[in-house]
Amino acid sequence: MHTNNTAAMDYITARLGSEGSPMLAFGGDYNPEQWPEETWDEDVRLMREAGVNLVSVGIFSWALLEPSEGVYEFGWLDRVLDLLHANGIRVDLANATASPPPWFSHKYPQSLPVTADGVRHSYGSRQAFAASSPEYRRAAAALTEQIAGRYRDHPAVVMWHVHNEYGCHNQPDYSDGAAAGFRTWLERRYGTLDGLNSAWGTAFWSQRYSAWEEILPPRTSGTWVNPTQQLDFARYSSDELLECYKAEAAIIRSHSPHPVTTNFMGFNMGLHQPVDYWRWAEHMDVVSNDHYLIAEDPRNYQDLAATADLTRGWAQGKPWLLMEHSTSAVNWQPRNIAKAPGEMLRNAMQHVARGADGTLFFQWRASRAGAEKFHSGMLPHAGTDTKVWREVVQLGQALRNLAELSGSVVTGASGGVDVAILHDTDARWGSELDSHPSVDASNIAETRRWHDAFYRAGTTTDFRQSTDDLAGYRLVVAPMQYLLTDEGVKNLDAYVRSGGHLVVTYFSGIADENDHIRPGSYPGAFSELLGVHMEEFFPLRSGEELELSRFGGGSFWSELGRPTTAEVLAEVVRGPVAGSPVVTRNAAGDGRAYYVATSLASVGMAELLGVLCGDAGVEPLFRDLPEGLEVGRRSKDGTDWTFFINHGSADVQLAVSGLELISGRETGGALALGAGAVAVVRSNGSSSATS
Ligand code: GAL
Repeated sequence: MHTNNTAAMDYITARLGSEGSPMLAFGGDYNPEQWPEETWDEDVRLMREAGVNLVSVGIFSWALLEPSEGVYEFGWLDRVLDLLHANGIRVDLANATASPPPWFSHKYPQSLPVTADGVRHSYGSRQAFAASSPEYRRAAAALTEQIAGRYRDHPAVVMWHVHNEYGCHNQPDYSDGAAAGFRTWLERRYGTLDGLNSAWGTAFWSQRYSAWEEILPPRTSGTWVNPTQQLDFARYSSDELLECYKAEAAIIRSHSPHPVTTNFMGFNMGLHQPVDYWRWAEHMDVVSNDHYLIAEDPRNYQDLAATADLTRGWAQGKPWLLMEHSTSAVNWQPRNIAKAPGEMLRNAMQHVARGADGTLFFQWRASRAGAEKFHSGMLPHAGTDTKVWREVVQLGQALRNLAELSGSVVTGASGGVDVAILHDTDARWGSELDSHPSVDASNIAETRRWHDAFYRAGTTTDFRQSTDDLAGYRLVVAPMQYLLTDEGVKNLDAYVRSGGHLVVTYFSGIADENDHIRPGSYPGAFSELLGVHMEEFFPLRSGEELELSRFGGGSFWSELGRPTTAEVLAEVVRGPVAGSPVVTRNAAGDGRAYYVATSLASVGMAELLGVLCGDAGVEPLFRDLPEGLEVGRRSKDGTDWTFFINHGSADVQLAVSGLELISGRETGGALALGAGAVAVVRSNGSSSATS
């Protein structure tokens, strides 16, 4: 097993070039079974024309590979892999377990997942199985054994793709099988019923359990189900699916040394994430992610940037792979807006700038039939005389020009990354539970606001967990980290006292890992470290704004309280808690801890960032970035590659020296970047940007 993502990603990129020279991965899901075999020759010819070097094959092929129980038919897949190999195209081979065939679900109806309301899913779409189902696990293991055994030595295969987007359509499952699995998981976690009763706070509403058999998943009930039960069920459900992945990955690893992955769906940070990717990432040889723009979000490229940074966090800062994005429109949003000219290249370069060693798409050839027939592909219905195809060819060329940066890591102005944003899964899940002070307080939205502020300032940020070693960061932000373990709280406290700068926002450190309130002044975990005594939440009415003495206005949230040892940087001037501190700074040990008790708008946030970065000694990659200009940097062996991505509508002039790799031209000290354009400049020194 590859324990190091750099090595595993290098293993793949080294196999993508024709002479063993590393290449960034470029290609997509290839579903040849949807097309007559005569089409395949055209596929590989056009793949070569576009410079495709890696395709994912077989993801949804179970019904064709095992047409009836225990009967396998590999002839077509043999021919596809041989054809790809003959054309120098490498394969990320799936074990095809993502969509059990109708014969399976028909024969084993008990394997189908059940909703919280007790409705058993039917088959007829995909992912129609319960993670706890022994029948599913047995069949998936048998299929994996067949595929890994048969193709272990196939020269086209360079990596393995287990399943597809775990938990996308079948999570959580509330079936009786899940109930039994949940009980076993709980017994392991708590040991005794007393332990469980205490963790779940069952003295409330007469919920005390007197036997394990009484415990159920948090199925639909009259009103709010016990919050700790909900949280534990989310944890259990993630773990149960992870067991499926681990079992299939272990079978593959017993056959083959190629890296194993499953594609995460960190796509769009705003969507619910049903599995804990921090825990899952430990079991990946290469972290791979799928990202789709929410087409109507005017700053969807900033969501892309945040998600790519989060994916790099899961990969512990090492190179990762973009397994899927779209060349243009998707099919699953209310209005599936097509990408504007140049948008796909900008998106792909954003991922590379943020650590991806390749960008793949869903999918190679747009389907003619099925639920996704209106989803764009690399090869559109209208063929090669199209904007999409020309841009695909252009992207393939751009990635070839950037091959030299494979294996490099993302860096900031100081040569490392100086800022970390915390994003614990439990904190996110906990904050998303019901019966909280305000529906407007959103962990994801607040996290995105902070990421956006650094993004606009041109400052590179990592994502980390509260329990990680944070010593290398000058500034750490904890946006709505509602629920933290004791270990996380201690870690953050020690980080500050040994010289770090920690920003804690409202509704952080409120609950412990069982979702019990941490007692004392709010925020219970940090009131002493922050030097504040906050006593009551005053969430704002819909549309209400706070007026602050500095940093503009505040939305959604305010708190009544006073400083104890903290210096008040801003107080509420108008709003329900006039006179209460809203932004504070407290010296603690060798460091400083800041509290932000409301949600700041972007102008005030930028002003606050100036204070924070000044105190912590954090520099941006570039100062005074023109609106819409994204910058990022990767570095390796003393060489820097700086990315300039112009999402704006104005041309910009940049004082930058070095070789621009996409055009192959020296900048001669001045880079003209048109509206919508992208440049990647190789250099050894820092530069500045002016509009
Ligand atoms: C992903 C999935 C692909 C395809 C794509 C469409 O969630 O992995 O198979 O459905 O979405 O955008």
